[in-house]
Amino acid sequence: MIYRHIVGLLLAVSLVGCGVAEVPSKTVHAGAVASPDKYGAAVAEQVLRNGGNAVDAAVATAFTLAVTYPEAGNIGGGGFMTIWFDGKAYFLDYRETAPAAAHRDMYLDENKQVIDNLSLIGAQASGVPGTVMGLWEAHQKFGSLPWGELVNPAIHYAENGFKVSAKQSIYRENLFEKLAASTNFMDYFGTMEANTTLVQTELATTLGRIATHGPSDFYQGETAALLVAQMERDGGLITLEDLGSYTAVWREPVITDWQGYQLVTAPPPSSGGIALAQLLGLKQRLASHFEGTALNSTQYVHLMAEIEKRVFADRADYLGDPSFVTVPQAKLLEPAYLDQRASEVNTQNISVTADVKPGLEGYHTTHFSILDKDGNAVSNTYTLNLSYGSGVVVEGAGFLMNNEMDDFSSKAGVPNAFGVVGNDANSIEPGKRMLSSMAPSLLLKNNQVELVIGTPGGSTIFTSIFQVINNLYDYDMSLADAVAAPRFHHQLLPKDQINMEPYAPLAAETQQALTNKGYNLVTQGWNLGDIQAIKVTNGHVEAVADPRSRGVAKVFPY
Ligand code: GLY
Repeated sequence: MIYRHIVGLLLAVSLVGCGVAEVPSKTVHAGAVASPDKYGAAVAEQVLRNGGNAVDAAVATAFTLAVTYPEAGNIGGGGFMTIWFDGKAYFLDYRETAPAAAHRDMYLDENKQVIDNLSLIGAQASGVPGTVMGLWEAHQKFGSLPWGELVNPAIHYAENGFKVSAKQSIYRENLFEKLAASTNFMDYFGTMEANTTLVQTELATTLGRIATHGPSDFYQGETAALLVAQMERDGGLITLEDLGSYTAVWREPVITDWQGYQLVTAPPPSSGGIALAQLLGLKQRLASHFEGTALNSTQYVHLMAEIEKRVFADRADYLGDPSFVTVPQAKLLEPAYLDQRASEVNTQNISVTADVKPGLEGYHTTHFSILDKDGNAVSNTYTLNLSYGSGVVVEGAGFLMNNEMDDFSSKAGVPNAFGVVGNDANSIEPGKRMLSSMAPSLLLKNNQVELVIGTPGGSTIFTSIFQVINNLYDYDMSLADAVAAPRFHHQLLPKDQINMEPYAPLAAETQQALTNKGYNLVTQGWNLGDIQAIKVTNGHVEAVADPRSRGVAKVFPY
């Protein structure tokens, strides 16, 4: 197919980590993409140049990353897509669901203690995947190019292979022993070494069926049968009935006003959008305390941590799947509530953790951002949960299954892999969606997209986006500087802990001053996020891929 030759040509030209273009009109932009790898970026560009819109490009990029970015790109997981199309905002929830046989205590032993790794590794860790249905729904509503044409680039890379990056094989080494011990992961990914070519023949065939038959193959057809056979071999819970009843859901996005902009972001079952809106709202209310405070100074980190611990306290108690629990979304974002929460911040000393109650009463995932020349935008975050998900590969179909069940609260108050706790609102129930932190977001100015942004990072997703928005708008940084600047994270528990990243730790004297104040500073083993962002300012389009990883950003007038 001609497409497959074009892909080769595209990859022959040099790809850059960030792109900038001046375009004359405010409403007709260049196309832009910020993708976690060069394959996703090349495919998005090609689809836009072929006349596709931002949603077409998103569908093709998502399928491509399911091949070239198997640590998080997926068809065996789920995600969220925030869309701006013809002047209107949309949100698509294609999060995984708990299988019908799942139950509240399924990860507890006879003494009601959480069994190590059961919600993380192996077939019982998987929720019912949503990605194929989600991409289909997005395409049905907004797509302009034929579905099969958008799956073809992924088939090309699965059939002909892609070059494994050094970072990909590092991830693999970290997980090697755990996954090898109890899954078939190594049969499929064991040969993956830096700079070698990984061919995925079974996956190519699966994608071929999806290209021809759409989601019916994945949820009712041959792929469904292979998936269920794998579950039966490995003691997993997902049945044909679970697959047949899976639906992706169009939801109202969270839309809030912030400093002259409109933030458009993820509603429940994500905590990410509400949390991001709360973070921005609280910081705005505390603006006088930030005045003259240098970015990432001791006082700055303290104030941000005070804000973050209150947001995480709300997250633990109130947020869950809105089909199962009543989420007090409006109350959590009410100006009076944010005023009250801001007034509780201790601007000088660390608030006592136990006193921060809910106020009303590497980890991996991946994100890409796309803008088309008509100003439509897609902000998409999707995931298998941790790198390479549960480690279980569906034999005969060649794709990895998620370990998203760990995002439920296995037991009230016991932290999950991201160290976050939850209570009843996020307990396991059949058919329920597990609480997420993913926050694919847009900022609008005068009803036009100004910023398309998102990142992986589990519970650090919304604090990372918060810091980049803050760097851009409150500290007037360029997009590239705002994304590259050091990030840190606090999430209420562990008590008084500030997480830093290897990429850009806080200055040594700031670390010392924060330690003297009573904080416990920890440099975690992975970086804080992999932001993919596009910014449009008066017709000037910029795109930036986070220098923390191997992403590629491009701007291309067409
Ligand atoms: N699995 C990470 C998240 O959804 O937040």
